[in-house]
Amino acid sequence: KSEELLFSYKGVLYPIGLCSAETFQALDTIEFRQDDVFLAAYPKCGTNWTRHILNDLINSLPNNKELSQLERIHVLEFEASEKFQKIKNAPSPRLFSTHLHYDDIPKAVFENKVKVLVVFRNPKDAAVSYYHFYNKNPGLPNVGSWDEFFQKFMSGEVTWSSYFDHALSWNKHMDEENIMIITYEEMKENLPGGVKQIAEFLGFSLPEEKIQSIVENATFESMSNKSQETHGKFGPILFRKGDVGDWKNLFTEAQSQEMDAKFKECLAGTKLGAKIKY
Ligand code: PPS
Repeated sequence: KSEELLFSYKGVLYPIGLCSAETFQALDTIEFRQDDVFLAAYPKCGTNWTRHILNDLINSLPNNKELSQLERIHVLEFEASEKFQKIKNAPSPRLFSTHLHYDDIPKAVFENKVKVLVVFRNPKDAAVSYYHFYNKNPGLPNVGSWDEFFQKFMSGEVTWSSYFDHALSWNKHMDEENIMIITYEEMKENLPGGVKQIAEFLGFSLPEEKIQSIVENATFESMSNKSQETHGKFGPILFRKGDVGDWKNLFTEAQSQEMDAKFKECLAGTKLGAKIKY
C-alpha cells in the first residue's frame, strides 16, 4: 500500500479511491434545501454511528418513505456515479455527510439554514482509531509504526488534514442556531439522551418507544453485529472497539503530553475546548 493511494487538493490529502478534484470543484453547484440534514465529523469521530441514528430518526417521521442508509445518505466529497443528478432528484429530507470542516463546506449549506450536526471525539482516541483504520484499509497507505502515525496526526499529514484545524474552524461557529455539536463520549455515556438531543435539534417529535428502539439499534454491539450487512467487507474495519480511552494502550507518556500541550494551545478557554471530553 503506497502513498500513491492519496492525492492532494488545496493542500489537503484525500484517498484517490473516494474523492476527486472534479467532485470538489462541483460541490458549489448543489442546491441545498432547508429540510436537508447535514452531518460533519473529522474522520474516526463517530460518523457512521451518528449517520445511522440520523437515518433512523428520519425514517421514523410519519408519512416518510423508509430508506436505507445507502439510499438516503450523500457523502458530500465522495465520488459516485451520477452523484449530482441523484442529489437533485432525491426526496426530502436528504441526509448529507462529510469529513470537511466549516470553511470547506459549501456556503449554501449555512445560507439555506440546513441543520448541521457536528460530532467531536477526544483527539487521542480519534488518533488511535485512525491509526488502526489506516493500516487495515486497503484504500489508504501503510503508516508504519504508531510513533510515525502519531507524528503525522499531530502535523496534519493525514487524510482530511489536521484534527486541530478542523476543531478551530468549527469553534468559530459554536453559537449558530443551526449548528449542534455533540461528542462521541456524551453518546457513549448516555445514548438515549444523545438521541433525544439530536431529535430535538432537528425538530422531530417522536414517541418514547420509537426513541428506545433507535437507541437499541445504535449500540456498538448492535451495529457491529450487522456491520457485514450494512458495510460489507469494511464492517469489521469500521466497527473496531467502540470504546472511550483506548488511547491508553498506544500513547507513550511523552506523546500524551505533546497532545495535551497542542490541545491547550489550540482550544484552551474556547467553547469547543470545554465541550470536547478531554
Ligand atoms: S470514518 O471512517 O471516519 O467514517 O469512521 P467513524 O465512523 O467516524 O468512526 C469510527 C469509530 O466509531 C466507532 N463506532 C462506535 N462507537 C460506539 N458505538 C457505536 N455504535 C459505534 N459505531 C462506530 C468505531 O468503532 C470506530 O472507533 P474505534 O475506536 O476504532 O473502535
